[in-house]
Order: sequence, then C-alpha cells, then structure tokens
Amino acid sequence: MTSPRVRIAVAGVGNCASALIQGIEYYRALNDLRSAGLINSEIAGITAGDIDVVAAFDVDIRKVGKPVNEAIFAAPNCAQRLVEDMPGESITVEMGPVLDGIAPHMAEQPDDRAFRQADAAPVDIAQSLKNSGAEVLVCYLPVGSDEAVKHYAQACLDAGVALVNCVPVFLASDAAWADKFRDAGLPIIGDDIKSQLGATIVHRVLTQLFNERGVDLQQTYQLNTGGNTDFMNMRAEDRLKSKRISKTQSVQSANDQPMTDDNIHIGPSDYVAWQKDNKVCFIRMQGQGFGQSPVELELRLSVEDSPNSAGSVIDAIRFAKAGLMQGWAGPLEEPSAYYMKSPARQIPDAEAFQLCKTLVDELAG
Ligand SMILES: NC(=O)c1ccc[n+]([C@@H]2O[C@H](COP(=O)([O-])OP(=O)(O)OC[C@H]3O[C@@H](n4cnc5c(N)ncnc54)[C@H](O)[C@@H]3O)[C@@H](O)[C@H]2O)c1
Repeated sequence: MTSPRVRIAVAGVGNCASALIQGIEYYRALNDLRSAGLINSEIAGITAGDIDVVAAFDVDIRKVGKPVNEAIFAAPNCAQRLVEDMPGESITVEMGPVLDGIAPHMAEQPDDRAFRQADAAPVDIAQSLKNSGAEVLVCYLPVGSDEAVKHYAQACLDAGVALVNCVPVFLASDAAWADKFRDAGLPIIGDDIKSQLGATIVHRVLTQLFNERGVDLQQTYQLNTGGNTDFMNMRAEDRLKSKRISKTQSVQSANDQPMTDDNIHIGPSDYVAWQKDNKVCFIRMQGQGFGQSPVELELRLSVEDSPNSAGSVIDAIRFAKAGLMQGWAGPLEEPSAYYMKSPARQIPDAEAFQLCKTLVDELAG
C-alpha cells in the first residue's frame, strides 16, 4: 500500500521554513535511520519524507519569485545546512500581503540581518492555496504580525485548508477563531510552536518536577539570546507582548500555584548577531523544599533554533493531515497541547505525550 502524502503551503520562508523544507529532504533520503531525530517516524502512515511543498509565500525581495529550494538559503536566513543540495525543481515563492509583517526597525539594520520588502503585487492567498492543492498551511510569520497571520488564517478558511500556527498570534486558543475552523470542518493546531527540546518544554518539565517532589517554586527566570531575524524582530518591545504572554503562561500553567508577576520573568532577552541561529537559554529556579530548605537550579541550554522547531512542526503537519482524513474539525487538543506553547487547553507534557502516542497508535491501526 502506498503511504498517503501531505501537500503543504508555507507562509514565511524564513529560518524555520528552511529547516523544515531541508528536513523533509533529509528524511526522504534516509532509509535505515528514518526515525533518528524525530519524535514519531510515522503518523497515520505518513513519514517525514511524504510531505510536499506546493505553495510558499513571502514578502522579501530576495525570496519572492525564486524557487523555494533557493529562497530557503537566501539572506537574511542563517539556519544551518541539513542537506548539501536540494534536488529537483521546486515551486516559486509568491508575494504575500505585507500588512504588519515587517517591523519598521528592520530598515535600520544591515541587509543580512533584516527583511527587505519586494516591490511586487500580492497574490490572492485563498485562490493561490486552492490552485496549489495545498491541504495544510504552516504559518511562520514574524512575531507581532497579528493582521497578516489572521489574513492567512482567513484564507485557509476560504480555501478549505488546515492550519498549523507556529506564531504567538492566538487563533487555536481563541474561542471565536476555534469556532471558525470548527464550522468550516477544518483542523487547526496552534498556537506558537513548542520546539522539540527547547526552553519551554525543559522549563515546564522542571516546574512539574518541583511540584511532584513537593518543592515550592518561588522565583524563576528564563533568559534567551539568539542572532537570527526572529530575535532581531523581537527587539521591538511592542511586537513582543504576545510572545511574552505565550512563553510565560506555558510555564505558569505547569506550576500548581501560579507565581506572581514579580517572581517570574520569561522572554526573548537579547539579540547577539554572531550567535545567528544558535539560541542559548538560561534558566534559574529557586524554591523551598523539606523544612523550607532552599533549592536552586541553574541551567544553560544551547540549540539550533530552527531545526529544533522543525522537530515539532514535522509532527504537527502530519497530525493536521490525519485530522483531515478523519474529519476532525477545530483545534486538535492533544497535538496542540504537546507541540504548541499556547493550546486551547494546557495538558501536562507527560500526559499530552501519552495522549498523542495513543492517537498515533490508533491512526496506525
Ligand atoms: N524555535 C523557533 O525557531 C521558534 C519557536 C517558536 C515559535 N517560532 C516562531 O515561528 C515564526 C517564524 O520564525 P523564523 O525563525 O522562521 O522567522 P524568520 O524571521 O526567519 O522568518 C519570517 C519570514 O516571514 C517573512 N514575512 C514577513 N511578513 C510576511 C508576510 N506578510 N507574508 C509572508 N511572509 C512574510 C519574512 O520575510 C521572513 O522570510 C516566528 O513567529 C517565531 O517566533 C519559532
């Protein structure tokens, strides 16, 4: 029996898209090590290599009009190379509506660190999605692109396409948007991708551990530095609000007793140009254990930011396709809880993992 394939569209051909699209090719070429580096080798009979990119949208002059396999390596992208050569022909990146996608401060930065708007007319996204035959749109727009993300989400509804929302713009976790997807009979997985082994999941699991072992977590911070355009974009504090909310509530929700605002500090902390796509996270947790004795934990986590997100997105896409095959509509609760920082309903990660595993087993059967 031939395995089902998934046709995806990508909004925002930045570093995360680069890692994902290279990763699909990487796993397609692997035979015996298919599951290395993956959370699931197969979901609903679909492997990582069974994903086809059939449409891509961006607004940067170095990407629009280019084959997507070239655009993923264009400046200001700086994600590491996972494959030497991307084989074959690929679809052309189309011009999206800019709306609030490009922060004004990008203009003050050198070309290789910032977005540069293309001088082209935007396409009709819904029409383009329909023409391409896309089944799932992966939204990878910059943080703070509230209007633009909603424009792509509406296009999904109009075109009958499922959505994987990797951005902290609240859709799957917003009752009104969740209803729109439910009413349209379309799955949505969101919001704000929780990387494969990133700061959020580590911080959540450690918070859970403090709780389980009876240690009262009293203060914590999570400071993150990086040198990609995601970090450059987040230098504008007004674009950052939803990211701070998403990251903070993700950790708060893992704690039995939410900490007061003064006692928890989480967010992107600084842009360090030479770090490029390397993200470094510093976590400190302070609490009291037996007899109120002090417990302090310090941790440094270093990852390549974009492949780390792709490790989760590769599963979210396949769950979205499974949803389409099964007729599931609205927010997919279990995958959203496991793969996203801001799902409609937070579930402890160990439990969400088991729920997803059960789904994977049922879908395989
Ligand atoms: N580990 C991770 O990297 C991670 C984790 C969680 C969430 N995210 C989120 O995923 C998103 C993508 O991250 P990234 O590192 O790929 O960002 P990026 O800056 O590398 O890419 C964003 C892309 O969007 C394009 N763009 C801007 N406005 C657009 C519009 N209106 N239409 C189409 N394209 C537009 C830009 O030109 C750029 O190519 C961000 O919101 C980020 O916060 C990433």
